[in-house]
Amino acid sequence: MDKFVVRGGNPLLGTIKVSGAKNSALPCMAAAILTEDEVILENIPQVNDIETERKLLTSMGAEVELGYGRAQHRTRIKCAILSDPVAKYEIVKTMRASSLVLGPLIARTGIARVAMPGGCAIGGRPIDLHINGLEAMGATITQDHGYLEARADRLKGAHIVFDKITVTGTEDLLMAATLAEGESVFENCAREPEVTDLAALLIAMGAKIEGAGTGTIRIQGVSKLHGARHRINPDRIEAGTFLIAGAITGGDLNVDCCEPKHLGALITKLEQCGVKIDVGTDHVRVRSGGELKAADITTEEYPGFPTDMQAQYMALATQAEGTSTVIENIFENRFMHVQELIRMGANITISGRTATVRGKTPLQSAAVMCSDLRASASLVLAALVADGETILDRVYHLDRGYEHFEEKLRGVGAQIRRMGDVFGRK
Ligand code: UD1
Repeated sequence: MDKFVVRGGNPLLGTIKVSGAKNSALPCMAAAILTEDEVILENIPQVNDIETERKLLTSMGAEVELGYGRAQHRTRIKCAILSDPVAKYEIVKTMRASSLVLGPLIARTGIARVAMPGGCAIGGRPIDLHINGLEAMGATITQDHGYLEARADRLKGAHIVFDKITVTGTEDLLMAATLAEGESVFENCAREPEVTDLAALLIAMGAKIEGAGTGTIRIQGVSKLHGARHRINPDRIEAGTFLIAGAITGGDLNVDCCEPKHLGALITKLEQCGVKIDVGTDHVRVRSGGELKAADITTEEYPGFPTDMQAQYMALATQAEGTSTVIENIFENRFMHVQELIRMGANITISGRTATVRGKTPLQSAAVMCSDLRASASLVLAALVADGETILDRVYHLDRGYEHFEEKLRGVGAQIRRMGDVFGRK
């Protein structure tokens, strides 16, 4: 298993580029299932979850070319024939987003067999809302041996009010509704930019969708979708992680090729912490404004503070003067980075969904273990300011979602290198 070796102490200086959003790319790749034509996606990040999705689609009979036409970040997908509409456990066990193929598969082929998802171990993470929605659209769903099987001759449009806001649930049902008979109206939808990105692709494919990015989405089902070309949004979580990297190291970092409009809650919070921020059209510059000050966060659905930035923010809070309260509202059990930060010298206590961070505490290097994707990023951020050399184990979690993370950070002055396993295991 690969490890990172990070020596702390360098302020990050210069320009760092943001890749395409993994969480937009995954549903957009799944959307290609809805048509027998070719779908070309630009700005696909080179991360392991994308490779998993490629394997998943290929195993069903699709043609998927990552790096199409010699463009590293272009992907061509053609689902002319889906001979095996099954998402196998061996492929999906590492990636919860596999549930995203459920809606498009049943809409296109009338049958879907999908292994119950794995992915980050942050709470129970059920998919009941996907299932309830598809049932409301007329699908029959059964469960056996860890697989869900969904069947329907043709899905029917439905009025669905989500009990709880779910990002991939909204995306899954949105895809299903594009080919359903009649109108669907979804309420209490996720408003995340990734939903809007997916809707833009679906509209380019011929879908009739109104209201994506708001709480209510209306879809008029059509009988067929066609091919399209679409560019994936910049990754707001990667951009946010770099903003914190600049802030925590007291550097001067220009985070380029991002969409500042998607970073509002984080930028506001960083300003409260005393960080200087300059916002451009497609870049954000972050600079030290002297000592960092404590500020509280509560994670919420978009446009609130993203749960996917909570762990990274907590690393920053350890370096801020005063007490910061961090409330995690979206997932239970998303504080697995806390024990590792404490081992590095942080003063953090947890009570239920609330973590209290008392700063500023000097951090020391240690051997630490990555437990999930964003927790890994949090530990790298902490290591960038720790005294000495931190060794991070299990960076395969990070490789699921950050493209060339250590190379990008090295390019702006971080001392970080990857150490391979002697047996070559990932
Ligand atoms: C997506 C993101 C993930 C992010 C999360 C919240 C992708 C691939 N992943 O995950 O990075 O952390 O949004 O912004 O886009 N829930 C149910 N039943 C369901 C579905 C969800 O109870 O059927 C609950 C979950 O347990 C959680 C909450 O709803 O408490 C939100 O989860 P959801 O928005 O679905 O997260 P994901 O779409 O899996």
